[in-house]
Amino acid sequence: MKIIHLSAECYPVAKAGGLADVVGALPKYLIQEEAEASVVMPKYANDWMAGQQFETVFEGQAPLGDWQFDFRIQRESDDTLGFPLYVVDIPGRFDRPGIYVEQQSGIPYEDDFERFIGFQVAILDWFNQMRVSPDVIHCHDHHTALVPFMLTQCYRYRDLEQIPTVLTVHNGEYQGIYDHGMQNLLPYFDYQNAGLLDWDGRLNCLAAGLKTCWEITTVSPTYMKELSYSSHGLEGLFRSEQQKSRGIINGIDTEVWDPETDPMIAHHYNSRKMAGGKRKNKQLLCEKFGLDPQYPTISYIGRLAYEKGADLLPDLFRSFLESPQTVNFIVLGTGDRSLHYQFEAMSDRFVGYFDAALDYNEPLAHQIYAGSDFMIMPSRVEPCGLNQMYSMRYGTVPIVRSIGGLKDTVVDLGEPDGYGITFYDFSLEAARHAVQRAVDLFGQGRTMAGLRKRIMNLDFSWNASAKKYIALYEELST
Ligand code: GLC
Repeated sequence: MKIIHLSAECYPVAKAGGLADVVGALPKYLIQEEAEASVVMPKYANDWMAGQQFETVFEGQAPLGDWQFDFRIQRESDDTLGFPLYVVDIPGRFDRPGIYVEQQSGIPYEDDFERFIGFQVAILDWFNQMRVSPDVIHCHDHHTALVPFMLTQCYRYRDLEQIPTVLTVHNGEYQGIYDHGMQNLLPYFDYQNAGLLDWDGRLNCLAAGLKTCWEITTVSPTYMKELSYSSHGLEGLFRSEQQKSRGIINGIDTEVWDPETDPMIAHHYNSRKMAGGKRKNKQLLCEKFGLDPQYPTISYIGRLAYEKGADLLPDLFRSFLESPQTVNFIVLGTGDRSLHYQFEAMSDRFVGYFDAALDYNEPLAHQIYAGSDFMIMPSRVEPCGLNQMYSMRYGTVPIVRSIGGLKDTVVDLGEPDGYGITFYDFSLEAARHAVQRAVDLFGQGRTMAGLRKRIMNLDFSWNASAKKYIALYEELST
């Protein structure tokens, strides 16, 4: 069975968030299940691309409104990722380093719609002309959500119409909303069905994909339910498309995330032989941030965004740091500027107990997973969340708000067989109570050690979920 994934991100090629991790891992696990899986993404002008060899498999020209644009489809020659990677090279559109935003300023590219329309049209023209005919096309998020629309609505792609499409929603907050005027850029399409592009009076790429794809998936079962009553205006649509929707929880790439072999951490360890490895990583981490390792270290890794509940952190941390100090906090991430300022001020004020690296830094993230005692995720919305699973693999206990994928992957210690700390209300009190439970738990050395081993042995790998995707692809293609 041949599955082609279409995505704006893929780890380690280009990553802005968890989408990249999923698209970089799932194909490998599908291949283990005997499927032929590959990924198609834009060719950004970044370091990874510069270090690779590519061979051109197709060259074409396609319309974008009144203009024509040239494109090339290339295949990465060495299959470095463990699966075939195809890139769409569109000069003038993707030959820039950033994925969605200008790297220096953080300002979104103004021609996002043109870029991703071009990307999707180029792929379908290539499929059409070269008779590329996968058993399923698997689209990820709104940047590829017009593919199901175009397959059903564009007369040029009639021959491809029978190919089943899956659209996975990794994050329903981002929908790709534009003025209707932009639809003039879409080629080969009959305007009488323009209504399919509309949601609430705007052109909405995600909505168009949800309406026209064969199957909708989201990255956790709980998030699937949440979308039908909270999805930034798309609630009614998610409800009406319920019969073709399902939630499949993400896994993690246990090859990349393995404390026994991870090249990004200083001391290797596993659940059978901790051999002080975790403790030594903590020592090193605390030295790096100037913290005292005798105290519990609680970290946050992620975008400093409203959706992630990062705005709760300054008050939460301060409420512990202002009283007699018995806990350390570390923050790694970038985002909201006002949070940057607050964290910078806190680093100065609480030297020895708090520090922040206001950066996107993959190696440092690995060190923090390995060296921390707890990982906090107070998300307002969390479609799946991968960080809680990475943490547990490294023996770091998650403290999470029990929603979306966090609810599906973290069972509170108070429940039978529970292994994490959860809270429900999005409030300072609830989060404070959860952190206090973590501090108390840290004080019980043996319980804590036993818990570390247990969470390291939980299976969050892709194995089970890859099988669910295979079952879905089989349903659709037979
Ligand atoms: C998005 C979501 C996150 C999810 C990831 C991968 O980044 O916000 O919850 O884990 O996609 O599906």
